[in-house]
Amino acid sequence: MAKKATREQWGSKLGFILAAAGSAVGLGNIWKFPYVAGENGGAAFILIYLMCILVIALPVLLAEILIGRTTQRNPVGAFKQLSGKPFWVAVGGMGILAGFIILSFYAVVSGWSLGYIVEAATGKFYEFNQIGSSGAHFTDLTQNTLWNISYFAAFMILTMVIVYYGVQKGIERGSKIMMPLLFLILIVLMIRGLTLEGAEKGLDFIFNPDWSAITGKTILVALGQAFFTLSLGMGAMLTYGSYMSKKDNIPISAVEIIILDTLVALISGVVIFTAVFATGESPNVGPGLIFHTLPIVFTKMPGGLFFGVLFFILLSIAALTSAISLLEVVVAYFVDDKNWQRHRAVVIFGFFTFLLGIPSALSFNILADFKIFGLTFFDLMDYLSSNILLPLGGLLISVFVGWVWGLDNAIPNLKQGAENLFNKFPWMLDIWVVFIRYFAPILIFLVLLNALGII
Ligand code: TRP
Repeated sequence: MAKKATREQWGSKLGFILAAAGSAVGLGNIWKFPYVAGENGGAAFILIYLMCILVIALPVLLAEILIGRTTQRNPVGAFKQLSGKPFWVAVGGMGILAGFIILSFYAVVSGWSLGYIVEAATGKFYEFNQIGSSGAHFTDLTQNTLWNISYFAAFMILTMVIVYYGVQKGIERGSKIMMPLLFLILIVLMIRGLTLEGAEKGLDFIFNPDWSAITGKTILVALGQAFFTLSLGMGAMLTYGSYMSKKDNIPISAVEIIILDTLVALISGVVIFTAVFATGESPNVGPGLIFHTLPIVFTKMPGGLFFGVLFFILLSIAALTSAISLLEVVVAYFVDDKNWQRHRAVVIFGFFTFLLGIPSALSFNILADFKIFGLTFFDLMDYLSSNILLPLGGLLISVFVGWVWGLDNAIPNLKQGAENLFNKFPWMLDIWVVFIRYFAPILIFLVLLNALGII
């Protein structure tokens, strides 16, 4: 296993932040966060979610970036280098497998988003003006095998093209163009939402907690969401961290990534709920919120055609910058550890991901009645990765850093590039130590038991 002398690195610190924020900001923020918050009581859920981000996700994010930056390797190579034990190497392997699985169904939903840009632009939203028919339209589209597979394929090709060009010329350059555009569109949509008549009811829903809606389950859902939204638990942040310079400050970068991700989730909530409440729609319709309810909302609001197109462009950009991080994990493994050419790895694994995604795309039509453990193939892939592989990965990563690789090794590496910060605030390090050794693994363990139906 020859170590490549010319392994790529990010061109700048900003490049890393935008790429990592691009990975974090995705369907999880714009599609999932608002509907999950909507179903779980709005503001009270959001407060719990923010606590999960601070108490669990931040320490794990630090740990992942740290492992990557220290080893300058993909997840498998990183665990090989730091431990060499087959168990830990397998943990890296599980991350690569999870990346492959997540991308296969993530790209199907992302394909719908691409398709909805066209639906919005061609005025299709105006042909239906009540939730029933817009839901029916969505069902028609997803039942259409050709529509589903074509947009899925188109999205995979976009993802592959970016990763093909490499870390600096592909991922970093793409993120530097797409992320500012994403923020700009989000702000335009936020202003539109806030200036709608009746917007305050939406704000009230997200910022005024109704504690009675909180149950034990809510906490677990909030934690799962915190993991997914920050791309944690399968080595995506580890891989992005592996292209980082030893001079860069890991804690500050991690906090910046978290702030950007959280802002996008909250602003997406504002965009969606101001519009939903102002047009008198219902906030708690679940996963269909974006594809069923929003098209109606756009037909009812002034300038809806324009804002509808803009919204689905936003969603597609967010999905694309996340998808590239998933493909990069798989590609990095074959490039680092198997000495493959990047181009070859991208084409081959892009194509395999597409193949694995086909049964997910068909889960809404031909394979709708094909159930494994009572779930469609799509739901099974989602459940397996989001509820089992990611929390398990996060748990093992915190145990690895806290107990196996050990804090004596981790801390000096974490301090590199962050000397000033830790000299001024040494207690920050102590807090991280407690969180990564105890809080994170124990709380994640509880989530996992819940996901498996044990508690
Ligand atoms: N974080 C992304 C989102 O919110 C999805 C994502 C990208 C992801 N890479 C990941 C999730 C790695 C888990 C693991 O949509």
